[in-house]
Amino acid sequence: MTKILVIGSLGQLGTELVMGLQEEYGRDNVIASDLKPSAEVDGDFIYEQLDVMDKDRLISLVEKYRINHIYHLAAILSAKGEKDPQWAWDLNMGSLFNVLDLAKNIDHVNRIYWPSSIAVFGPDTPKINTPQLTVTNPTTVYGISKLAGEQWCQYYFEKYGVDVRSIRYPGLIGYKSLPGGGTTDYAVDIYYKALADEKFECFLDKDSALPMMYMPDAVRATIELMKAEPSRVKVRSSYNLSAISFTPEKIFESIKKFKPDFEIEYKPDFRQEIADSWPDSIDDSCARNDWGWKPEFDLDRMTEDILKNLEILLESKK
Ligand code: NAD
Ligand code: SER
Repeated sequence: MTKILVIGSLGQLGTELVMGLQEEYGRDNVIASDLKPSAEVDGDFIYEQLDVMDKDRLISLVEKYRINHIYHLAAILSAKGEKDPQWAWDLNMGSLFNVLDLAKNIDHVNRIYWPSSIAVFGPDTPKINTPQLTVTNPTTVYGISKLAGEQWCQYYFEKYGVDVRSIRYPGLIGYKSLPGGGTTDYAVDIYYKALADEKFECFLDKDSALPMMYMPDAVRATIELMKAEPSRVKVRSSYNLSAISFTPEKIFESIKKFKPDFEIEYKPDFRQEIADSWPDSIDDSCARNDWGWKPEFDLDRMTEDILKNLEILLESKK
């Protein structure tokens, strides 16, 4: 059976991806890892403390469990990265090299997943239905590191045969864990405020359209791409992926269908400039044609699902 290591597993994506991988491959074949000491981590999964910058510890865990697939999720995201660009660059690039080199040198590691982002695009990029191949010119250190990372993934595939796969996620929206410092985080926070019957202060303007995706779609896409036959994976930098595109006003209207008294106020901050530099919507025809990608959730279906399940989750924690 395939043995899997997830790096950065306690974050917004990792929390749900680990559950999805356990369903697909079996609980005992998925090793979760992150910075926190094991004693501070709760959950029904095998867990190891790992700083991905510690190459020796990374190699020893890969050998201990005879790992075949690595999902390398650890990164500093867009808004947090702008507060300390050098740190974001060092972590985002250094960690990717540690993982790619390990895959090049250790035979039983035969597949790598590393996420990219819509942050690879910038103000010069066509905003509507942004194509797979187009002008990029990102303006954040996060976007610059993701674009460079994509090129290195392609390089390791072409020069060393490393089977590395990647998706340019849109903003990810889930209710099972909190986001870690991105520009799209408002679209998670808004649901928590709606359920607390609090007015929501939005750090983006009401007309700021961005590509987004509900977490179950993102987890399914990730596992589908990793299970695809190698010959079907034709893009070795990173695939455009699309599901929903909306503005803060549209998500507010969607929530109001279920919570009619909900209120919002718009107070754009430094994240507005980042959002303005990213596409409004994405053309993901390469992912659809190459490995059969198809999203399931639209905005209202996602809103209904989150409000229902988040309420249950919050009640269970009281
Ligand atoms: P997150 O910030 O919620 O989680 C990142 C995790 O990495 C955290 O648990 C953190 O503790 C861990 N980490 C940080 N430094 C580490 C280190 N040195 N060693 C080991 N672990 C470390 O991020 P996320 O939203 O879960 O994103 C996961 C990946 O998906 C990232 O690569 C991100 O760029 C990408 N992505 C996310 C989104 C999104 O909307 N969430 C969109 C596009 C791409
Ligand atoms: N959601 C991420 C961010 O806002 C995009 O990669 O940083």
